[in-house]
Amino acid sequence: MDLFDKRQLKNTPLGQHQQFENYYIFPKLEGRIAPRMQFNGKEVVVWSINNYLGLADHPEVRQADSAGTEKWGLAYPMGSRLLTGHTEKHEELEQKLSAFVHKEATYLLNYGYQGVVSLIDSMVDRNDVIVYDSESHACIVDGVRLHMGKRFVYTHNDIENLEKQLIRAEQIAEQNKGGILLITEGVFGMSGDLGKLDEIVKLKTKYNFRLFIDDAHGFGTMGKTGAGTGEHFGLQDEVDLYLSTFAKSMAGIGAFVSGKKSIIDYLRYTMRSQIFAKALPMPMVEGALVRLELLQNESSLRTNLWNNVNRLQSGLREKGFDLGNTQSPVTPVYLHGELEEALRMNHDLRENYGIFCSLVVYPVVPKGVIMLRMIPSAAHSNEDIDQTIEAFTAIHTKLKAGAYKPAATAE
Ligand SMILES: Cc1ncc(COP(=O)(O)O)c(C=O)c1O
Repeated sequence: MDLFDKRQLKNTPLGQHQQFENYYIFPKLEGRIAPRMQFNGKEVVVWSINNYLGLADHPEVRQADSAGTEKWGLAYPMGSRLLTGHTEKHEELEQKLSAFVHKEATYLLNYGYQGVVSLIDSMVDRNDVIVYDSESHACIVDGVRLHMGKRFVYTHNDIENLEKQLIRAEQIAEQNKGGILLITEGVFGMSGDLGKLDEIVKLKTKYNFRLFIDDAHGFGTMGKTGAGTGEHFGLQDEVDLYLSTFAKSMAGIGAFVSGKKSIIDYLRYTMRSQIFAKALPMPMVEGALVRLELLQNESSLRTNLWNNVNRLQSGLREKGFDLGNTQSPVTPVYLHGELEEALRMNHDLRENYGIFCSLVVYPVVPKGVIMLRMIPSAAHSNEDIDQTIEAFTAIHTKLKAGAYKPAATAE
């Protein structure tokens, strides 16, 4: 059989929805990155971009990005850090990140996804055991897939179940003379709940494991200074490897991992995603330095973000919406209905109420559940929020009345 004949797009989880291309899948949001953008020629309030602090279109960020590109172009430096792509600016950014997240050392990574996969690959060999949360991001799952040894998944945030898995992991690790790597997200990007770092860290007194946190959604949003979910719980010292992407609060590209100098040195010499790939371009690094400074020094950005989070989440809760267990800016709204109703409802929301948010359906959530996921930012206005709550109230009433059922004509 020809390999290409076997690879039928229509048989893949997303490909079966290809008829929604340019609408739910590969939609084109146009204009400057802002709370209101253009979609299919109309203005919409956008709730689908992880621009938590509103830095994507901040004047100082725009200025730094243009100045960096003007000065360096996008090519410099060429090659990997290890061979020809190392610069003082890369080191400066690493030092500033280390100071900010209270760790001895930091290593820059080209992407969060790639970095997580490669970090897991570097950290474990066939004798080691991985224990990880069942709702982990795809990059964690894919890193675990590369692992040649045993892995145990624990039920999402279920500490009793985690302990069971740790007991099994410890038996195997002892037999193999291996170690244990425990992986969780700081803020879970879909549901917005936090990894139970306080309870996980307590288990360190009973079991010998190293804790690796992917804090993509917590960095810049959580903790007193924005240093993330470890800071939020007051136990950053117990996080052995702290990783975040620059793709969310930092509104850039790239990522970093921080920890004790000895382990970061080990990663600098072993992470295949960094040894065998080009270093982050200089404008990205200089741009990240400016973003980090704003994130650290302009506390009004985080205050605005949280004011907006609170207005949106309490407004929705007052109207009776179920937001699950979110404790972070990630705002999921759980509704009940079939896939067809979800599609019609979201179409109504976009076309008639001017609200753009992501639709999450089975298999990410159980059959019959519709999740509308929203990411508030520091840049949203009260008007954006109030318009959205009103629109949600209207579509929810229609959903409950059956207006989106395939047989109904109302839309
Ligand atoms: C938890 C988590 N890790 C990693 C990533 C990937 O980051 P990047 O876009 O830098 O590859 C994301 C982004 O979706 C994420 O949510």
